[in-house]
Amino acid sequence: MKIRSSEITSEYTYLSRRKFITNTTKLMLGTVLASSCSDSDITTNTQSQIDNVSNSIDSLPDKLTTYESITNYNNFYEFTTDKERVSILSQDLVISPWTIRVGGLVKNPRTFDVDDLIKIFDQEERIYRLRCVEGWSMVIPWQGFPLRKLLDLVEPTMDARYVRFETLYDPNQMPGQKSNWYEWPYVEGLRIDEAVNDLTLIATGIYGKQLLPQNGAPLRLVVPWKYGFKSIKSIVRIDLVAKQPESLWMKAAPREYGFYANVNPKVNHPRWSQRTERRIGELQRRNTLMFNGYEEEVADLYANLDMTTNF
Ligand code: MTE
Repeated sequence: MKIRSSEITSEYTYLSRRKFITNTTKLMLGTVLASSCSDSDITTNTQSQIDNVSNSIDSLPDKLTTYESITNYNNFYEFTTDKERVSILSQDLVISPWTIRVGGLVKNPRTFDVDDLIKIFDQEERIYRLRCVEGWSMVIPWQGFPLRKLLDLVEPTMDARYVRFETLYDPNQMPGQKSNWYEWPYVEGLRIDEAVNDLTLIATGIYGKQLLPQNGAPLRLVVPWKYGFKSIKSIVRIDLVAKQPESLWMKAAPREYGFYANVNPKVNHPRWSQRTERRIGELQRRNTLMFNGYEEEVADLYANLDMTTNF
């Protein structure tokens, strides 16, 4: 899955383009920012337009986290629990060729080569907050495609009510999987209406560059209104199922981590408050937002759910 260097957008170009998109569309984080990812977007607009936007960007409540931080401060327990060493220990993960099997309760089960999958769908740009259950957060410009498009291809049957995701299991490449602390492989799940929500993304890149192993290459889930552990990395298998899947975290610490795990500042973790968070790159803590700021888009999904717990 090689991309030519001419296809890679520099961080600078990326930021400039993002400023332009932000100003013209008047969209703030919390709403999807989608664009075609071609460099011509920026070059066809005049420099004065871009400069004007630069003046207003500082008033935005959220700034993009740097590429450096996004790719060097990671949770990926298959490699290590040390966030600052994941990037080093994961760099030899073989991410091409890579296949993903999508099956279970579907009319048309299929195995996709990731390179083909990326060609099938337009890669959209989405700037989302990521809020880890541990109390830190980032703002990440992802590329990818809505999970819904992939599910449409396999045609879920009427019995399918949940989606189950599985990460690669390969202890030779992922030394953390030799530890008995967790029941590998990493598994996560969504209700089907959560899975087809437009915010739910399969990410393939960050800052216009191909996803690196530490961020879950070649394909990872991104569910921005839920705690980060729901956003499972390096997926090899997706199954449509009838029963609520049991995730790695539900098995490891059932009294601490539930299936829903919606970001909720009013419900504390049993061992710490969830009221505030540390945005990576900032000194002061900021308030955590209900559904991580995506309440308008997703609150309806939980009209019948008890929001005083996180299960
Ligand atoms: N996926 C797998 N397979 N293994 C993991 O350890 N960690 C989760 C999630 N996805 C994890 C995972 C957690 S706790 C978080 S906060 C995010 O990935 C972190 O994503 P990032 O490292 O890209 O910021």
